[in-house]
Amino acid sequence: MAGEKPVALVTGATGGIGNAICAVLGRSGYLVIAGCRNREKGTALVERLSSKGYAAQPLVCDVSHPDAVAGAFRELEGLTDRLDLVVNNAGFNRAMPFEQTTPDQWQDLLSVNLLGPLAVCWHAIPWLRRTRGTIVNVTSESGFAGTAGEVPYSAAKAGLTAVTKALARELARDGIRVNAVSPGPIQTGMLEDLTGGDLEASRVRVDKMVRAIPMRRLGRPEEIADAVAFLASDRSSFVTGQTIHVAGGVLMC
Ligand SMILES: NC(=O)c1ccc[n+]([C@@H]2O[C@H](COP(=O)([O-])OP(=O)(O)OC[C@H]3O[C@@H](n4cnc5c(N)ncnc54)[C@H](OP(=O)(O)O)[C@@H]3O)[C@@H](O)[C@H]2O)c1
Repeated sequence: MAGEKPVALVTGATGGIGNAICAVLGRSGYLVIAGCRNREKGTALVERLSSKGYAAQPLVCDVSHPDAVAGAFRELEGLTDRLDLVVNNAGFNRAMPFEQTTPDQWQDLLSVNLLGPLAVCWHAIPWLRRTRGTIVNVTSESGFAGTAGEVPYSAAKAGLTAVTKALARELARDGIRVNAVSPGPIQTGMLEDLTGGDLEASRVRVDKMVRAIPMRRLGRPEEIADAVAFLASDRSSFVTGQTIHVAGGVLMC
């Protein structure tokens, strides 16, 4: 059991941004519960974190179905008796013209990017109420600007911003803060294969994105992780319902 260390659950821990979030939280003294779809990938990540002296445990948590999320929270009870932080980071994207998308694809994108975080929050709230803990959602600038070729993803991420604000209002009196980090284009596997197999088309798309960023470069996963760590910490103790845009100035709200 976790004992006195604060405990953080990070979904999508095995991805580019997830890895960086786990590392910064491990460095900050959390026991990191690394939510993963694939136990082997999660175990490998935990071994890397442990080799740096960070406390971590893998937890299989596929967010695409509420039953799977419920199962993950049952397993969580065997790993810890407290939860201080939840980072809803799992997500995926597919770029294609809206008229070429199918209802099954809309369902997949909404399930993972919006309904998954909802299910995770629903299960986490009773735990967080006991610790007066915090939720950080990883949204996207697509959810603010709306990105052509990413219609269902933009809708899901906009929904997650609304969830962030609504939950922040609902949970403030319980001492639970709810905030979001909205990345611009970040150098991870998601950008490398945005088009689902056509790597050259992905590269062209990403080059265009970079030209639209005032700072003219992609972000690094660690730059997202640092914003998550700030929102998780007491340094942001009067901040709730907010989004930090970590995007090289692509949006200035
Ligand atoms: N990279 C960007 O430019 C960018 C921009 C804006 C927002 N974001 C957001 O940042 C977050 C992290 O993305 P990333 O850039 O780190 O991408 P990534 O490297 O592709 O990582 C995505 C992570 O989500 C996990 N995942 C996907 N479907 C899942 C499911 N059904 N259940 C549980 N986990 C699932 C993946 O698991 P596996 O490891 O098993 O594949 C992976 O760990 C996402 O929410 C994404 O929308 C990224």
